[in-house]
Amino acid sequence: MKKHYIAGIIIFVLGIAFSTNVFAEGDVVRGKAKYKVCAACHGENAAGNDGIAPPLQANIHGI
Ligand code: HEC
Repeated sequence: MKKHYIAGIIIFVLGIAFSTNVFAEGDVVRGKAKYKVCAACHGENAAGNDGIAPPLQANIHGI
C-alpha cells in the first residue's frame, strides 16, 4: 500500500516537471514564429530600426 502511494507521488512530480518543460519549449518556438512579423519593423533582436520602429528590449510600457 505505502509503495503505491510513494510511486504515485513520484509519477505526479515527474509529470509536472515534464509537462512544464514541454510547454516552455513550445511557447518559445511559437513566440519566435509569431515575432517574425514584428521583426520586419522592430529588427531580429528587437533592437529597433532607425526611422522605422523603436527598440523593444527594455522599454515596454516604460519599465
Ligand atoms: C509595420 C511596422 C511594424 C510592425 C510589423 C510592428 N511594429 Fe511595433 N511599432 C512600430 C512603430 C513605428 C512603433 C512606434 C509607434 C509610436 O511610437 O507611436 C511601434 C511601437 C511598438 C511598441 C511600443 C514600444 C515603445 O517603446 O513604446 C511595442 C511594444 C511594439 N511596437 C510591439 C510590436 C509587436 C509585438 C509586433 C508584432 C506583433 C509589432 N510591434 C509589429 C512598427 C511596427
